[in-house]
Amino acid sequence: MISAEQKFDAIELLIADLQVAKNSAQSIALIENINLQLEDVQAYHYFGVKSYGRNLIFSCDEFEVILMCWRPGQRSVAHDHNGSLCVMKCLAGTLDEQRFHKSAGAITPIGKYQLASGSTASITDEQGIHSIGNESLENACSMHFYFPPIHHSNLYDLDNAQPRPVQSAFTSEYGIILDSAVESRSKHKLLMPLENQKIFSSPIR
Ligand SMILES: [Fe+2]
Repeated sequence: MISAEQKFDAIELLIADLQVAKNSAQSIALIENINLQLEDVQAYHYFGVKSYGRNLIFSCDEFEVILMCWRPGQRSVAHDHNGSLCVMKCLAGTLDEQRFHKSAGAITPIGKYQLASGSTASITDEQGIHSIGNESLENACSMHFYFPPIHHSNLYDLDNAQPRPVQSAFTSEYGIILDSAVESRSKHKLLMPLENQKIFSSPIR
C-alpha cells in the first residue's frame, strides 16, 4: 500500500523533474505521464468563496504549480497567459475548455474540448486564449502548470477584445488559506510538512 508520504513524494519528484526538463515538450510529457490523484494534493484542496479555488502549490523562477477547484457551474473569464505556456491536467471530474481566436475587435470561439479526469492539455498565446469551466453536476479539480509563472494576465469579454489586465490571486498558498484575495508570493517555498498541511486541509467533496 502506498503511504501518504510516498504520495506526497510524487509531487515533489514531478517538481524536481520539471526543474531539469530541457524544453516545453519534455515538461508536457512529464505532466502527461504522471499518475497523479486528487488525494496526492488533498492539502491544497480548497474551493473559492466567490469563484473557483486557485491554490498555489509551488513557485520558482521557471514555473508554478496551482491546484484549481471548480464547483458545478463555475467558469473562468476568457484569458490569455501573458506569454507563458499553460499545461493543465484534470484530476477529478470533467472540465470544458472553450478556445477563442483574438482579433482586433472581438474574440471568436474556435473550439470546445472536454478535459476528462486524467487527461492533459496545453495552450500558448499563439494558439489562442481560453476559458475553463465546470459544466457538470459534480465538483472538478485540475492541476495547472505555468512556464514561467503568471503574475499578470488579461481578461477578455466576448463582445470586446480589449484586454482587461488582472493580477494573479490565490485562495491559498502552500496549503494556507489567504485572508485577502491577493497576497505576495514567496518563491522556492516548497511543500509544507504533511502533518502541518492536514491542519489546513478541507475534506474532498
Ligand atoms: Fe488558462
